[in-house]
Amino acid sequence: MKNMPLFQTTRSIDNHYSSDSAVVLVNGDAAALLKTLPDETVQLVITSPPYNLGKAYEDRVSIEKYLKGQKPIIAELARVLKKSGSICWQVGNFVAAGEVFPLDILYYQIFKDLGLRLRNRIVWHFGHGLHASRRFSGRYETILWFTKSDEYVFNLDPVRVPSKYPGKRHFKGPNKGKPSGNPNGKNPSDVWEILLRDWEQALWDIPNVKANHPEKTLHPCQYPVELAERCVLGLTDEDDWVLDPYAGVGTSLIAAQMHNRRAMGSEKEPEYFEVALERINALWAGTLVTRPMGKPVFVPTGKEKVAQVPAEWQTPQLPRLFEKKAKYK
Ligand SMILES: C[S@@+](CC[C@H](N)C(=O)[O-])C[C@H]1O[C@@H](n2cnc3c(N)ncnc32)[C@H](O)[C@@H]1O
Repeated sequence: MKNMPLFQTTRSIDNHYSSDSAVVLVNGDAAALLKTLPDETVQLVITSPPYNLGKAYEDRVSIEKYLKGQKPIIAELARVLKKSGSICWQVGNFVAAGEVFPLDILYYQIFKDLGLRLRNRIVWHFGHGLHASRRFSGRYETILWFTKSDEYVFNLDPVRVPSKYPGKRHFKGPNKGKPSGNPNGKNPSDVWEILLRDWEQALWDIPNVKANHPEKTLHPCQYPVELAERCVLGLTDEDDWVLDPYAGVGTSLIAAQMHNRRAMGSEKEPEYFEVALERINALWAGTLVTRPMGKPVFVPTGKEKVAQVPAEWQTPQLPRLFEKKAKYK
């Protein structure tokens, strides 16, 4: 699907903050950009910080040192956040010698100490990923959504999702017989079923369509535009500033621009920065293709070759749990 911003008067990407910019993207350190921002400027910070996993763009350090390094950045983010603003902090786990350290739990107190208030701990559930052999395979990450005050922007209508049973009716009381749901759909809840990486799902479910999924870039950890879009639409209004201090290939900035919000970010790695510039320009040119928001996750019909039991497994050894279920049928 082609995405075109509905209105855009300025089509340039500035390399420093100015209050009348539409997009600011800096190839440099997050702290350097933050220093240049006035207090209470930004309506939404949405980001996925480096997870300290030893990816190409990060040096792995102890968990204590990692969190200590993030504290001054988060304090700066709180400073530049508007009173009505939100921070969406998307993280997974840090794993050391097979032990799991849930980053959201470790981060929580840093935000709390700055006076921020948690509104949701959103579970982002996805269907595919690495298979673990000595623990259960991880299939979710989280987004901590904090607000700066109790007077915060929350627009539920633009992010409603179709309800499962729209025909449900009140069965008693003054509204008896009337539809009980909302004609615009239901609250998306705090569990989000958004594909981790559409191209990977597609690779498994519909072989050879990887090339049709241009959200994929060279970045090892980019998140889907759809995930950022939901935060942008729910927590900002048009023309507000959306900031991603760890911009990667620009996903948060793209989501912001798609919905007529000002976008700002910093990315230290030149190659990701360049891709981010290209993607924003492609959005403006109408050539950036993204997975449409709310598109249902693909469910195999069973007819796909990859959904069928291999011929070599004609007499499969059923796991014990399934054997028991079969007995009670
Ligand atoms: C988890 S990735 C974010 C990916 C991003 N959400 C996307 O969809 O492309 C974290 C990014 O932060 C960048 N980074 C790490 N430390 C940084 C710093 N101090 N300042 C700016 N960028 C940094 C890394 O190079 C990496 O691209």
